Amino acid sequence: MDPSNDWKFTRREVLKMGAMSVTALAVPGLVAAPVDAATAAKPVTAKVAFEVNGKPQQLDLDTRTTLLDALREHLHLTGTKKGCDHGQCGACTVIVDGRRINSCLTLAVMHQGAKVTTIEGLGTPDKLHPMQAAFVKHDGYQCGYCTPGQICSAVEVLDEIKDDIPSHVTGDLTGKAQFSRMEVRERMSGNICRCGAYSNIHDAITEVAGGTA
Ligand code: FES
Ligand code: FES
Repeated sequence: MDPSNDWKFTRREVLKMGAMSVTALAVPGLVAAPVDAATAAKPVTAKVAFEVNGKPQQLDLDTRTTLLDALREHLHLTGTKKGCDHGQCGACTVIVDGRRINSCLTLAVMHQGAKVTTIEGLGTPDKLHPMQAAFVKHDGYQCGYCTPGQICSAVEVLDEIKDDIPSHVTGDLTGKAQFSRMEVRERMSGNICRCGAYSNIHDAITEVAGGTA
């Protein structure tokens, strides 16, 4: 008997069978029992209460919610921007208990009882914060996407210098911090502006600092 008669598959059929077995191996769900919906993990939620721009807020949040998403998606304060969502651009900078932070890198539930200030809480269209007014005067933006983060950061940079908090470029770590171009550049280096409005941003900060640099 001719052994070739035992195998009557065409080349196309062999390829098809191979593809089916690879798929079954690569996708275990195809051969495993279906997931029981009742046992699927439910998100863990928690209540968080904090003050945002002077107003008490209470939210019931998935514990994985970042402060940025709590502000934008739950409180609809969309002035704070999501740029990279990875702590690399500074667009999401807000002020929490007097310190600037990247709100995309911190969970909302970590800020129970905190005082949060966003760009909406710094000033109003009728009564701008001096830093907001200086950005407008010096044209410290083009598209404006990075601007809320730049302004929140700039406000805190001036406070840091006033409080003699040294930076990486401060010469004397125990002496008085001095306002200078190098200090501003270093301290603002976490706020990226893709439009490259840096020199005008610097002029705005310098005006509010009341100096030249
Ligand atoms: Fe937070 Fe870029 S969005 S640092
Ligand atoms: Fe456009 Fe800064 S003004 S990114």
